[in-house]
Amino acid sequence: MSEVLLEVQNLKTYFTITKGKVKAVDGVSFTLNKGESIGLVGESGCGKTTTALSVIRLLPKEGNVEGGKIIFEGNDITNLEEEKLSDFRWKEVSMIFQGAMNALNPVKRVCDQIAEPILLHEKISKTEAMKRVKELFELVELDTNLMYSYPHEFSGGMRQRAIIAMALACNPKLIIGDEPTTALDVMVQAQILDLINDLRKKLNMSMIMITHDLSIITETCDKVAIMYAGKIVELGETEEVVTNSLHPYTKMLISAFPNIYGERKMVDSIPGDPPDLYNPPEGCRFAQRCHMVNSKVCIPEESPPLIDYTGEGHFVACHLWRNSNV
Ligand SMILES: Nc1ncnc2c1ncn2[C@@H]1O[C@H](COP(=O)(O)OP(=O)(O)OP(=O)(O)O)[C@@H](O)[C@H]1O
Ligand SMILES: [Mg+2]
Repeated sequence: MSEVLLEVQNLKTYFTITKGKVKAVDGVSFTLNKGESIGLVGESGCGKTTTALSVIRLLPKEGNVEGGKIIFEGNDITNLEEEKLSDFRWKEVSMIFQGAMNALNPVKRVCDQIAEPILLHEKISKTEAMKRVKELFELVELDTNLMYSYPHEFSGGMRQRAIIAMALACNPKLIIGDEPTTALDVMVQAQILDLINDLRKKLNMSMIMITHDLSIITETCDKVAIMYAGKIVELGETEEVVTNSLHPYTKMLISAFPNIYGERKMVDSIPGDPPDLYNPPEGCRFAQRCHMVNSKVCIPEESPPLIDYTGEGHFVACHLWRNSNV
């Protein structure tokens, strides 16, 4: 039996704005085992980053977990005390933030930036920390002669490797990558994805991979959660979800997926817009854009629950499947 590392149970994370609340994450649940990887996929604004920031407990002040629980290694960390959070963030979970590549400090040497969290969270000397930085450079396949360089001397791919090295600095059990390859060109993107895959296996780390691009998930993740408007609409083993997708939204995502025979289309080419999460519609949030919507089955006032349709861990939240009437 695999050991559970993270359980997100009915997570509700809302942002308070002047006119009310933005329900950015509204009842999200998933489980991640040790060494396992899960992808969070969906259009811009569906709540991927907010889910991750809730797990790592790094929400901006207007954001708040208003419901549900986050269990990490059996401990409820939803209300973990402030003084324990910093260690938790580096030693248990670490995150490669959206756009992190450009977040390295331009006036500090790369080695000093990577050594910083090590010195802060491990009780070791500067010399030992530098030894660890050298090991990390080797781990992410960066030339150790470049340790003492400044970020501007690095290419985009090299900077992203340095960011990955920093995320691994304190040996976290879970790494979260928020669009970690988006800013890179296709060749470098493939190299970074290979590196992430290798590191995960070598270090037996769990991973949450956030992306718009389903093809990245098929390369890196055991499981996938398809998100739409603050909710998970489909969840399961990646291959199963991609080959036997159930939810109309997943089917649309897959058909918008770059295809070797056709021109490269982006996820954003799905017609229509997701609903405003300040005032989301009652019932199925995808109904207005769904080409399969059925007035007899799709109950307007009821939100479809996420159910295990196959009985083997392939979950879907859709009235059509719920009533097996497709
Ligand atoms: N600080 C904030 N204040 C108010 N609303 C916010 C804030 N941060 C995010 N939101 C809203 O929460 C929702 C989810 O945002 P989130 O950043 O999690 O989406 P995402 O899936 O990561 O999108 P993207 O793919 O563009 O990164 C969006 O409607 C967004 O506008
Ligand atoms: Mg995001």
